[in-house]
Amino acid sequence: MTKAIRFYETGSADVLKYETVELGNPGPGEARVRHTGIAVNFIDIYVRTGLYPAQLPSGLGSDAVGVVEAVGEGVADIHVGDRVGYLIGPQGAYSEARVMPAQFLIKLPDGISDSVAATLMMKGMTAQYLFRQVYPLKGGETILYHAAAGGVGLLACQWAKAIGVTMIGTVSTDEKAAIAKANGCTHTIVTSREKTVERVKEITNGKGVPVVFDSVGKDTLMTSLDCLQPRGTLVSNGTSSGPVVIDTMLLAAKGSLWVTRPAMMHYIMPRAHMLDMAKEVFDMVLAGKIKSEAAQSFPLAQAADAHRALESRKTVGATVLIP
Ligand SMILES: NC(=O)c1ccc[n+]([C@@H]2O[C@H](COP(=O)([O-])OP(=O)(O)OC[C@H]3O[C@@H](n4cnc5c(N)ncnc54)[C@H](OP(=O)(O)O)[C@@H]3O)[C@@H](O)[C@H]2O)c1
Repeated sequence: MTKAIRFYETGSADVLKYETVELGNPGPGEARVRHTGIAVNFIDIYVRTGLYPAQLPSGLGSDAVGVVEAVGEGVADIHVGDRVGYLIGPQGAYSEARVMPAQFLIKLPDGISDSVAATLMMKGMTAQYLFRQVYPLKGGETILYHAAAGGVGLLACQWAKAIGVTMIGTVSTDEKAAIAKANGCTHTIVTSREKTVERVKEITNGKGVPVVFDSVGKDTLMTSLDCLQPRGTLVSNGTSSGPVVIDTMLLAAKGSLWVTRPAMMHYIMPRAHMLDMAKEVFDMVLAGKIKSEAAQSFPLAQAADAHRALESRKTVGATVLIP
């Protein structure tokens, strides 16, 4: 038996229940992982609220680190005692321990502690795929990045700085602006008191930016389109404020713009590619180009409080649950 967060209906954070559940042995191709840290991601809120469908009742979470304590038949490259992390696979990371398909487990290198890895699996891999695969940045560009002080955001600030990209980051408060700047964001726009389009035009001498990374969604769509240069690209990579609906005629009117709505699952497999992506993220940390620690930690039993903090915009950086 083990402790886990489960939910029986979609809705507010109140639906999350801390329960005792069965913990089986790993079957063929599976491994049992005892968690040392569990990441909270905005995606977990989409699953909890039903925006991303889950079969109920369900566990929650897809991003954790821990130690392998048993492996099933046919698992070749993961062994008992390995320190591992993962970011895709079935829901259920919000638990003390669980059985996982071994194909999704990534070994953690020496030099990357469990507590650091717990902030990197989903968030670092997202920064990697946004900047290196979805819209490969060469260095020298000026980009607009929404929610720059968020979990993915603080890693993106550091990654942009490391590759010579000028990041204009939006944040809701002056405190978050200071944190984004301390992480390498070149210019910040405090959305509660500044007009994003005006500031972007000012910073870029009227040109606008070639790409906007917009994880906020509904509330920022029009602003993002208005900040783009002709033929610029909107990377609509999240919906923290609600889903986005786009009229394609608008894209023509605003400058023959491109829009993509990327999802991690289309950029991460096959496994060899996932391992290369993870190596790149870990190498950024090992080289001292990215620093990452949890900014907020909650006991696993208080996952609902972690969700309330994240969805009410009270967090900065990464949020972690401690089992
Ligand atoms: N497409 C993918 O594959 C993929 C993968 C991972 C993550 N994501 C997306 O990336 C985004 C960042 O994820 P995260 O876990 O690191 O979260 P996060 O950025 O730490 O939290 C969301 C932030 O969005 C901002 N925000 C603006 N309007 C909001 C609203 N109405 N409600 C809540 N927040 C609002 C807030 O920052 P301010 O207060 O500064 O505005 C808030 O702190 C999420 O949208 C997530 O879905 C996408």
